[in-house]
Formats: sequence, structure tokens, C-alpha cells
Amino acid sequence: MPVLDFLRLNPTDSIVILTGAGISQESGLDTFRCAGGIWSKVDLEDVATPRGFARNPDLVHRFYNDRRRGLLDPAIQPNAAHAALAALERGWRGSVTLVTQNIDDLHERAGSAGPIHMHGELLKAVCQRCHAVSDCRDDLSVHDLCLSCGRKGGLRPDVVWFGEMPYHMDRIQAALEDCDLFLSIGTSGHVYPAAGFVAEAGANGAVTVELNLDPSEGVSRFDRAIQGPATALVPALVAELLAL
Ligand code: APR
Repeated sequence: MPVLDFLRLNPTDSIVILTGAGISQESGLDTFRCAGGIWSKVDLEDVATPRGFARNPDLVHRFYNDRRRGLLDPAIQPNAAHAALAALERGWRGSVTLVTQNIDDLHERAGSAGPIHMHGELLKAVCQRCHAVSDCRDDLSVHDLCLSCGRKGGLRPDVVWFGEMPYHMDRIQAALEDCDLFLSIGTSGHVYPAAGFVAEAGANGAVTVELNLDPSEGVSRFDRAIQGPATALVPALVAELLAL
């Protein structure tokens, strides 16, 4: 499957990768908008907005506590796509910037050095009173004390909700300005600003490639779009890149 036959890439070129829930689907984590996905079971307004948290923090904590316990289930492991991206980071002579919309830690567990979690991390908590961020591998509740400021009731998952500004946008914009290849993997292209990255990269001269189970909402903006499961497409693409 010569994906990159049309590319004039040099092994020292810069690569920016954006991943979404689809890259973790074959590890056993639900996506959001596929059939039976997370947003078909719960209203995002109730569990993924500041208003929802203010209205019913217990419901929001239950939602993320369930997902955190699910992620920490030993059956949930990184898959071949996560591993291939980590191998690309190690073997590529140019820069590789991995940006993920995912709040799981499967990229890290596969060996990626430091994915940019633009939507935050499920295994972290933030205090709304003092803004301290802490590791969080247990259930959270409104009764928990912040270990930094000692106050109760302010802890929330360190996850970016709808209506909030994604994290690390300066770093992401700088990477998009300088990239030669933009890869989008396992995302529906439904949520901005991530859905706009392909246009920014393309405007800066990057070649843009989408690897997704189905054509995303932004598929027409890509130079090349390949449909299939991430665990098949990503290792094949990485093998081609590392053979350049
Ligand atoms: N391999 C490759 N792609 C897959 C696979 C797979 N095994 N399974 C599903 N996909 C694709 C689907 O075709 C879909 O386009 O992954 C995409 C998942 O889309 P969404 O469920 O919308 O997830 P995502 O794009 O990551 O959502 C973006 O929306 O709700 C917010 O904050 C949430 O970060 C999330 C953001």
C-alpha cells in the first residue's frame, strides 16, 4: 500500500500527528461519535461542560470516574498504532510532534515521549480554587480535599470541556507552521480547533494525510485519505516513512 508514493519527503522533514479516539478504539476504549459511542449514551452538555459540572458535579465525577476505572483496567493496553507512532518518534531524523485529543495515556504507555494533550488527561485532576494539577488514579468527588490548598470541593478532572480553551495551543500552532507532513489519525474532524489543523498545515505547505476508519467530516481537505483500522494503516505508513 504505497501511501507516500506521491510524497517528496526528506527524512529530516517535520511531521505533525493529530490523533483522536479512533486510535484507541482497538485497545477497547469507546469513541464518541461512532455507533454506540459515548455521546449516544450521555448528553455531553451534562458531563463535558462547565455548566454541567456546576449543575451536577456528582454526575460529572461519576462519568469520569467510570472512564478512569475503565482506562486503568489491565485489559486496556496500547495497540500497534500507538506503538508505531512511538517507533516513528524514535526513528525519524526530523522532528515529530504528536498532538492528541485523547485523554487516555495509551500513547505514553506505548513509549511516546510527550504527547501534547490538547484536551487534558483523565489521570490528572485540577483544583478550581488554586489551579494546582495533580495525578489522579482514584475516584474523584466533591468531598475530596486539594492537597495543595487544602480546600474541599474544587477538584475536577483535568479535562478540557466544550466552551473551554484547549491546552498548549501555542506549541501546536508553532508545530503546524513548520510542518512538512500532517497526519490525522482516528478523528471525525468534528471538533475545532483540532478539525482546523489540516487547513493550517496545508496552508503552510505541508502534505496532509488522513488515516481513518471512515472518511472524516474534513476528508476533502486532505491530499490523501486512506480508510481502514489504525492498527493496520499506521504501522504500514510508519514503515514507509522509516524506509525513506
Ligand atoms: N481505526 C481508525 N479510525 C477509527 C477506528 C479505528 N479502529 N475506530 C473509529 N475510528 C474513527 C471513526 O471513523 C471516527 O471518525 O475515529 C473517529 C472517532 O471520532 P470521534 O468519536 O468523534 O472522536 P474524536 O474525533 O476524537 O472526537 C474529538 O470530541 O467529544 C470531543 O473531547 C472529545 O476529544 C474528543 C473530540
